[in-house]
Amino acid sequence: MSAQVENDARLVGVLGWPVGHSLSPAMHNAALRALKLNWRYLLLPVHPDDIPDAVHGLRALGFAGANVTIPHKVAVCALMDELTPEALAVGAVNTIIIRDGRFTGHNTDAYGFLTALTNAGYAPACRPALVLGAGGAARSVVYALARAGARVAIHNRTPERAHALAAALAPHLPGVSLQIVSAAGLPAALLAADLVINTTSVGMTGGPPGSPLPAGARLRAGATAYDLIYAPRQTPFLRQARAAGLHAVGGLGMLVHQGARALELWTGRDAPVAVMQRAAQRALAARARADGARRT
Ligand code: ATR
Repeated sequence: MSAQVENDARLVGVLGWPVGHSLSPAMHNAALRALKLNWRYLLLPVHPDDIPDAVHGLRALGFAGANVTIPHKVAVCALMDELTPEALAVGAVNTIIIRDGRFTGHNTDAYGFLTALTNAGYAPACRPALVLGAGGAARSVVYALARAGARVAIHNRTPERAHALAAALAPHLPGVSLQIVSAAGLPAALLAADLVINTTSVGMTGGPPGSPLPAGARLRAGATAYDLIYAPRQTPFLRQARAAGLHAVGGLGMLVHQGARALELWTGRDAPVAVMQRAAQRALAARARADGARRT
């Protein structure tokens, strides 16, 4: 490839710390190649102290935008010229668009979750959903489900965080009531739920081991279990759900669809979702092999 082409390339990337494990470069560069766009998607490791300089540096360097991941999603909000209603409600930005020198902060996580859920054959409107966890990931999921008309209940190990999440979302969800489920109420809520979503880090590679549900928890056969975790692909939560007769769905689809939406926002082109899905799967498999090799 000529230096001229490199110099002409439009740039996007992902801000995170650490960010070396991100699947986004593989997914986005595959999509940009498939669209025959002369764009590059870069890993942008930035320490939290440097995030304001880094964001302003993107503008100086002529970037079209960026993705934002842990731990910068909340801090970046304050650096934007404007926020979309989703980013404002969720209180976090995962996609920045830079246009005419102005920063717009988007959040495509709620869209990604809802699209993945719909593609898995689940229609949430008017049906009871139980969200496990009350961190940043839960906020996107609760917002997405409530906007889609689901009846949403939240259970978290630390109940105060569940109440805080509901209070933070309330102004953005007029007319919606979010139910908080205590530990004592969990068995009944699990049996009532058509959809149970794990947004906690329990069961994630490198996270707390096990399932967020107690062993022997009774679930409703025929319901859907969605785990936001995509590494490993089979989590203890999904195994437990499948054993109880639920339709079990892993988190890779949400990752792909939040990325697809970001790509569409930057480029104005339809995202090649199947290309992105395959690239993410390949990168994930390569990462699992590398992690396995390091452990042996
Ligand atoms: P994220 O932004 O990815 O959601 P987070 O804000 O750190 O991450 O939230 C992690 C979630 O996983 C929280 O709901 C947390 O519960 P607490 O609020 O009680 O900390 C949940 N979590 C983490 N470890 C857990 C464990 N061992 N058992 C149950 N829940 C756990």
